[in-house]
Amino acid sequence: MNGAAPAMPSCVQTERHGEIIVLAIDHPPVNALAHPVRSALLDAVLAAEANTGISAMVIQGVGPHFVAGAEIREFDAEPRAPILNDLLLRIEACSKPVIAAIHGNALGGGFELALACHYRFAADDASLGMPEIKLGLLPGAGGTQRLPRLIGAANALSLMLSGESIPCARALTLGIIDRVGPRSNFIAAAVAYADEIVRSGQGARPLRDRPVPPGVLDDAFLGEQRRLAARKFPGVESREPIIECVQAAITLDFDAGLALSRRRFEECRRSSSSRALRHMFFAERGTRGGAAPRAIRRVGVLGAGTMGSGIAISLATAGYSVSLIDTQTAAITAGLTRVRDTVNAAVDKGRLAPAEAAAAIGRVQGSDALASLNDADLVIEAVFEGMAVKQDVFASLGRLCRPGTVLASNTSTLDIDAIAAASGRPEEVVGMHFFSPANIMRLVEIVRGRATLPDVIATAAAVSRRMGKLGIVVGNCFGFVGNRMLYAYGRENHLLLLEGATPAQIDSAMEGFGMAMGPNAVGDLAGLDIGYRVRRERQDLPDDPRYYRVADLLVEAGRLGQKAGRGAFLYAQGSRRPVPDPEVDALIAAESQRLGIARRTIEDSEIRDRCLIALINEGARILTEGIAASPGDIDAIWCNGYGFPRFRGGPMWYADTLGPAAVLSAIHRFAAAHGNRYWTPAPLLTDIAARGDTFDAWHKQHSSRGNL
Ligand code: 3HC
Ligand code: NAI
Repeated sequence: MNGAAPAMPSCVQTERHGEIIVLAIDHPPVNALAHPVRSALLDAVLAAEANTGISAMVIQGVGPHFVAGAEIREFDAEPRAPILNDLLLRIEACSKPVIAAIHGNALGGGFELALACHYRFAADDASLGMPEIKLGLLPGAGGTQRLPRLIGAANALSLMLSGESIPCARALTLGIIDRVGPRSNFIAAAVAYADEIVRSGQGARPLRDRPVPPGVLDDAFLGEQRRLAARKFPGVESREPIIECVQAAITLDFDAGLALSRRRFEECRRSSSSRALRHMFFAERGTRGGAAPRAIRRVGVLGAGTMGSGIAISLATAGYSVSLIDTQTAAITAGLTRVRDTVNAAVDKGRLAPAEAAAAIGRVQGSDALASLNDADLVIEAVFEGMAVKQDVFASLGRLCRPGTVLASNTSTLDIDAIAAASGRPEEVVGMHFFSPANIMRLVEIVRGRATLPDVIATAAAVSRRMGKLGIVVGNCFGFVGNRMLYAYGRENHLLLLEGATPAQIDSAMEGFGMAMGPNAVGDLAGLDIGYRVRRERQDLPDDPRYYRVADLLVEAGRLGQKAGRGAFLYAQGSRRPVPDPEVDALIAAESQRLGIARRTIEDSEIRDRCLIALINEGARILTEGIAASPGDIDAIWCNGYGFPRFRGGPMWYADTLGPAAVLSAIHRFAAAHGNRYWTPAPLLTDIAARGDTFDAWHKQHSSRGNL
């Protein structure tokens, strides 16, 4: 073991163009400003500053982006010098002009780097934004102080509180960009621009020396910004600090404002919402890697109902040719109308260009002939939920489709292996469980059958990604990950109703925790009859007269949910607003009495704990069984499919914040009070709690993530 390790290639390459030096940040995949990049950039800037032969510097990013921001993983540890703030101060203090040459994304710290440069030259594909709020952070490297000086405090604040990126043209109008150049020959054009700056003697131009343009952040404006941000980023602790720092840009001098933003950044970095959101950032990458996906161009969607038409919209807007097939002509007509209306509505909302919409609509053909699927590369089945009909359909697909066609089912509960077996080629069958409305909801559970080939799973993942969806691979069991956990959560909801809580109290307790909707309003929205029918078909329900008893009662009383104008709540004609109904309370109270359950006052904290800990315990079982590959997958599923609050990081991350030992002792407490039928801790939870570990740490030790 002798000899020095080979030198690491530098993250910053330099190239001389006469008196101009180009400093190219080369740190794939997105040039995040990790410690080695900061060090290398600082060295390169200092060397260029000291070199009398150099008159100006151009900073660019190698690859598809300029710089996508700070390295998010580094926020879990204490900052390491040179910190970004100091590096940017040093760049800004250069006596020679520094020009940012921006293409692709300049986000967060990447945008702040561009602001510390004296001039900004951009390609027309450039996109700039400060997405820190999405991570529970604020722009911590001077952005809150420099951007208001450039475009005014109001414009700067709305950009930071929205987290959205703006295209090059808008950045030019706002005055963020000084000059736009062609994407081809971009660096040559940037060098020519730098040369022009040198020749004209314009020199360095630090933003710190500029006053914030006049204008006040009045109460009406701030009130509106607060309202928008609270709706978009509930529970995120960096909202107020962002406002405070932008106000400081007006009221304090640059150094004092910068020092304040630095302190607030550190507080936000340590906040529970930022930790949770950073966890979500990585959890939401979706399943990647593994085998190469098959090439997909033509997709057949079988069943033109609610789900089939929604899936067709997502496929067509992503560029796939779609055959939408149904046995009912009326269903085909209705499905095609829905595709057309939804795509056209996207044009009205400015989300889609008219030409793209016309092309998307033109890609969808309706048909009642299953035989037209013989040239499909992928078929997604979305017919009625029932094993007999699905097996019948898959037997036909197995005969009709050419070998190599991927056969996917959108079943939400049925055994994918039993469906696959009927096709005669189970290795090409996979579950693609979309959520309703399928054209809006981002989540797709990709269900791996016993025989499913890795490239078939990779294909489902690639198609999901191309549709802009989050595909997470899960194992095959009743309800897969999301709905199986929902059963445990819903079980406690229904037991609590019999024990003394009302639907309104439970929903308010869960919404207070941050759930997008309470469980009773969700049941009404989905339709209580769906679960009712599934429970009738299941053979493995617990022998417990209390189990989902209230849901059954509601259905038997004709209270099917929103579509019937009444379910757990009442709904006025045409309204989606749940109104508590004394008739439901009386119905439940009578049932409690019939079952001999003494009703009592239930605290909101008990509601939250029982519903959430039931969810966590089921999640731990799912992990033990390998139905989910990681706690992060479960978290991504629950935050994207079930309205779990992102700022709490999903159920398994939430378990870690409570501490698995505390979760375990709550289960023991519930078992003592209610028996252990439902309150037996998952062995994995017991194990992790005994070791004083967390689900996150356990997963990092046993990581299998990324393998399809
Ligand atoms: N830090 C660490 N990793 C990052 C990263 C970052 N800032 N940005 C992207 N990555 C990683 C992704 O996790 C992914 O890794 P994987 O391949 O292992 O899954 C890889 O880079 C490629 O990313 P994408 O798959 O997302 O690539 P796309 O081309 O689809 O999108 C992007 C590119 C638009 C730049 C997108 O990655 C993105 O939005 N990144 C996050 C940007 C961000 O939030 N920046 C702010 C950071 S906080 C900050 O800067 C604080 C400062 O104020 C001090
Ligand atoms: P739906 O009743 O709206 O549509 C089903 C369509 O399939 C009907 O138009 C029917 O005519 C057609 N169909 C029935 N048999 C057929 C056959 N043999 N060949 C061709 N077409 C046939 O049903 P929905 O809600 O769209 O559900 C479809 C599937 O999606 C089910 O498996 C369901 O469990 C699943 N799912 C539904 C969700 C929802 O919220 N509605 C959510 C996630 C999955």
